[in-house]
Amino acid sequence: MDTARNILACILPKQGLSSMDQLDTTTDRQPVAKRRLADLPGPRSLPIIGNLHQVDRSAMHLSVEAWAREYGPFFRFRIGDRRFVGVADPEALSTLMRDRPAGVRRGAKLERIWIEMGLPVGVFVAEGEAWKRQRRMVMAGFDPAHVREYFPALQRVATRLQGRWSKAAAQGQAIPLQPDLMRFTVDAIAGLAFGAEVNTLESDTEVIQAHLDKIFPAIFNRVMAPLPIWRWIKRPADRQLDRSVAEVKQAIAGFIAQSRARLLAEPARRARPANLLDAMLVAAEANASGLGDADVAGNVLTMLLAGEDTTANTLSWMIYLLHRHPETLARARAEVLDAFGDRGELIHEGLGRLNYVEACAHETMRLKPVAPFLGLELQHDTVIGDVAVPRGTLVWAVMRHASLDEAHFADAGSFRPERWLGDGGPAHAASSAKRVSMPFGAGPRVCPGRYLALLEMKLCIAMLLQRFDILGIDTPDGAAAREQLQFTMSPVGLRMRLRERTAAG
Ligand code: HEM
Repeated sequence: MDTARNILACILPKQGLSSMDQLDTTTDRQPVAKRRLADLPGPRSLPIIGNLHQVDRSAMHLSVEAWAREYGPFFRFRIGDRRFVGVADPEALSTLMRDRPAGVRRGAKLERIWIEMGLPVGVFVAEGEAWKRQRRMVMAGFDPAHVREYFPALQRVATRLQGRWSKAAAQGQAIPLQPDLMRFTVDAIAGLAFGAEVNTLESDTEVIQAHLDKIFPAIFNRVMAPLPIWRWIKRPADRQLDRSVAEVKQAIAGFIAQSRARLLAEPARRARPANLLDAMLVAAEANASGLGDADVAGNVLTMLLAGEDTTANTLSWMIYLLHRHPETLARARAEVLDAFGDRGELIHEGLGRLNYVEACAHETMRLKPVAPFLGLELQHDTVIGDVAVPRGTLVWAVMRHASLDEAHFADAGSFRPERWLGDGGPAHAASSAKRVSMPFGAGPRVCPGRYLALLEMKLCIAMLLQRFDILGIDTPDGAAAREQLQFTMSPVGLRMRLRERTAAG
């Protein structure tokens, strides 16, 4: 890869950079290093805690974005003894993200915490050769033909959500938006991941979900914690977490055993795996795959964790933004009714024609990316922008900064889905816009679930707009929805009131 080679070519010696003359190693082909990490601006830090006192962990992304606005696209800060370089320049970000897995990895602390919690490692956490093998196996399951075969199961889940919302509308009950959408995405992903009808939409006793809900926030809290208190004192929450991890692992082992038994009983399933777990088992059993049950288990868990909050939170933001922009909502609804009528089945082909709805999703993710930052770590000395940064440095990739910059998007603070409607619809929207707004990441580790996520989102929004009018979406304090970070970023406490539309609309 040229970019990676360029970065490697311009590695600077870690020591002995005593003057700017030595730093400026420009040739025609190489990035120019004019500054060192120590030269970068950044907020004043205190001894021991660094900048910890200036951030609220539940909205830390906002503090770091404010620093990017104040200090520019390259800056430094410190949380306890962890030193970060903040990078908000989209070109530098995509160069870094493309230099994976060789030159750049996810923060090593994430992997340490994950393993320490006893979780099996999947593609999100794996690095190097292990990541390459796992990524191949996972991608086998995301093959568009598999996703298409799985679509009827997705439709059933959407119908169950419709039923749940009909009931709430008839009883005049406010719907807790994000938790209901989590049920939708949990059921959707469970069906895809291991072919199980996990019906959280129609029951309130889904055990695996209750345990997963404890694991995701705990990973985030431990990665962000300045001190590993859980290693010194086991609090009740830590003991509950251990139990949840054990339960989830046992449940996943059960799903693997069932899937293996099905593959043995019906060898024809090997040629046309019915779900991601079947597909991963077949790929893992292939000669020289180098993968075992632990890898398969790690990736079932990864799908459950990576595919739920992300899609549910994005949908929550999208519904919230549509409600606040009635003309946009009316245009999206007109497109849905044109494709399906006011009672028609929401078929796969029709969803493919919902260009405006898809543009609404892209615009939502530009303004409200559920991964507003990525934590990366340099595996070798690297020049980022014009800064020489030593190996081992932690990079806080500020993903939203450029998306809100007028230099890249006219009227950048406004919700205007039209901007994504290039000649060929959102899929072909101006590549410059797509290079700046990267809600699914970029490079070899770009989100493998992105097409599935867009499909789920279009299906859910089509169901909502076809069947219901939104009477209101309330926030806890009546002000604009607040952003909360818990690994992913979600709106706080939205409650939606619906009215069922009559057949004539
Ligand atoms: C709107 C929904 C979603 C958003 C915004 C989203 C966003 C992201 C982002 C930002 C990353 C990191 C990419 C990078 O490092 O460059 C990622 C990785 C990943 N996502 Fe998603 N995601 C979504 C839905 C899903 C779904 C539905 C699944 C699976 C069912 C999924 C599975 C994964 C996996 C396995 C990775 C790790 C890939 C790797 O490290 O190789 N995501 N996602």
